[in-house]
Amino acid sequence: MSDVGLFHLLQLQRKQKNMCNLTLCVLLFLTCSCLSLASCPAQCWCEATVVKCVNQNLRSIPQPLPENITELNVSGNDIWNLDNESFPRPLEHLTHLYASGSQVEQLDSMVFKNLPSLRLLDLSNNRISQFSVEAFPEDNKIDILNLSKSLYNHSYIGVFADLFKHSLTKVSHLDLSNNDLVLLPEGIFTSLSDLTVLDLRNNSLVTIRNDTFWNLALQMLDLRDNALKVLHNVTLEKLSSIPDLQVSLAGNPWRCDCNIEDMLIWLERHQVVVDRLNLTCAGPAELKNVPLLHLEQSQLSCWSNAGDALNRALEPSYVFLGMVLALIGVIFLLVLYLNRKGIKRWMYNIRDACRDHMEGYHYRYEISTDPRLANLSLNSDV
Ligand SMILES: *[C@@H]1O[C@H](CO)[C@@H](O)[C@H](O)[C@H]1NC(C)=O
Ligand SMILES: *[C@@H]1O[C@H](CO)[C@@H](O)[C@H](O)[C@H]1NC(C)=O
Ligand SMILES: *[C@@H]1O[C@H](CO)[C@@H](O)[C@H](O)[C@H]1NC(C)=O
Ligand SMILES: *[C@@H]1O[C@H](CO)[C@@H](O)[C@H](O)[C@H]1NC(C)=O
Ligand SMILES: *[C@@H]1O[C@H](CO)[C@@H](O)[C@H](O)[C@H]1NC(C)=O
Ligand SMILES: *[C@@H]1O[C@H](CO)[C@@H](O)[C@H](O)[C@H]1NC(C)=O
Ligand SMILES: *[C@@H]1O[C@H](CO)[C@@H](O)[C@H](O)[C@H]1NC(C)=O
Ligand SMILES: *[C@@H]1O[C@H](CO)[C@@H](O)[C@H](O)[C@H]1NC(C)=O
Ligand SMILES: *[C@@H]1O[C@H](CO)[C@@H](O)[C@H](O)[C@H]1NC(C)=O
Repeated sequence: MSDVGLFHLLQLQRKQKNMCNLTLCVLLFLTCSCLSLASCPAQCWCEATVVKCVNQNLRSIPQPLPENITELNVSGNDIWNLDNESFPRPLEHLTHLYASGSQVEQLDSMVFKNLPSLRLLDLSNNRISQFSVEAFPEDNKIDILNLSKSLYNHSYIGVFADLFKHSLTKVSHLDLSNNDLVLLPEGIFTSLSDLTVLDLRNNSLVTIRNDTFWNLALQMLDLRDNALKVLHNVTLEKLSSIPDLQVSLAGNPWRCDCNIEDMLIWLERHQVVVDRLNLTCAGPAELKNVPLLHLEQSQLSCWSNAGDALNRALEPSYVFLGMVLALIGVIFLLVLYLNRKGIKRWMYNIRDACRDHMEGYHYRYEISTDPRLANLSLNSDV
């Protein structure tokens, strides 16, 4: 009796143990799957520590991101605003963030404060019109910054000039291509003492300020496809004083007149410009497409060009003067026509006045020629 009872008890205990094991297993499985879910957000693809959430029409940065993430690609989405909720938890190992072509317009203050290791930030192909100067923590490590075709309009470069001066001082690779930039703000790159690669290709830069390139570490400067007509002495000297620099200058509308002489001499003397064989004149017309290095000094005139310019400037003013004169003539005729009665009266008045006068003259003449009266007057004189 007691043996049987003991046996049942043992069986029951074993069953309970099995149940226990089962629940443990289920729990374990659940936590495992939960963990694996947590490690890769929905609509993302994770491999080791790289997370890609590309072309998913995401409206915000997917959450939560795995804690050991090193690289995040959220290109091709619809994330117009990056704010302090975009990275709510510290991600100590995230170094590369790609947010290209994601309709980004606004970056609020402290958006990157939880990404202390961020080195590469790709914001290309966006429409940035609000970028807080406090977006980056003070001790950020941003080294590669891609702002290619990312400014809403060219005036917005001023805000980036402030950022470069105050919080992005460690940048060494800077891509500012395709932004329609016309003028670079004063001293925009002066604080970037580590700047080695600067891409300004395909903007509309018309001139380079004297104080633009004070970056002795600069190695690659791409100024192709801008609107430069000539580089002045100050800029030339600055560029050739940077030890290992390579500059690209093709695709600019160089103006081949006497003002470009200094630049030609510089091009022949220095090897700084890697594509110097590809530089061609855009004007004057007779030198169009002539390579700069094939020019003779005798071809570089300024007098005839100055004359041309003067003529061209005067032509429209002659036309204008003619038009003004014609207009005055027409108005004069119109006034005459409108006032024809008054004028007629006036003419009659004048004629009458003349006639009176002439008659009076005639009368006096007749008097003075009358010999009797002449005698009279002679007598009275005596
Ligand atoms: C990163 O964390 C996930 C889980 O969160 C883990 O599966 C993965 O092995 C970790 N990777 C590295 C390189 O530590
Ligand atoms: C990020 O995703 C875009 C879109 O698929 C892709 O073109 C780009 O090469 C990716 N960048 C990196 C570094 O993987
Ligand atoms: C995020 O920014 C908003 C204002 O933009 C502020 O009200 C909020 O307190 C901030 N949150 C954190 C966690 O800093
Ligand atoms: C550039 O955009 C700003 C708005 O961010 C606007 O106020 C400004 O007028 C625009 N400038 C030009 C030249 O379009
Ligand atoms: C910046 O982004 C553009 C477009 O996404 C790409 O073509 C270019 O190579 C990038 N520049 C750098 C320095 O990575
Ligand atoms: C040059 O930049 C403009 C925007 O400023 C862009 O629309 C155009 O496609 C770019 N051209 C090339 C050849 O990249
Ligand atoms: C810049 O250069 C021009 C001509 O080379 C000179 O007239 C001007 O004073 C310079 N400006 C500065 C701020 O050095
Ligand atoms: C430019 O510099 C060269 C020598 O470095 C000098 O001969 C030339 O006169 C300078 N041109 C101007 C416009 O100052
Ligand atoms: C000069 O232009 C040609 C044709 O456009 C191009 O193939 C070559 O790479 C350019 N040379 C340099 C140094 O950029």
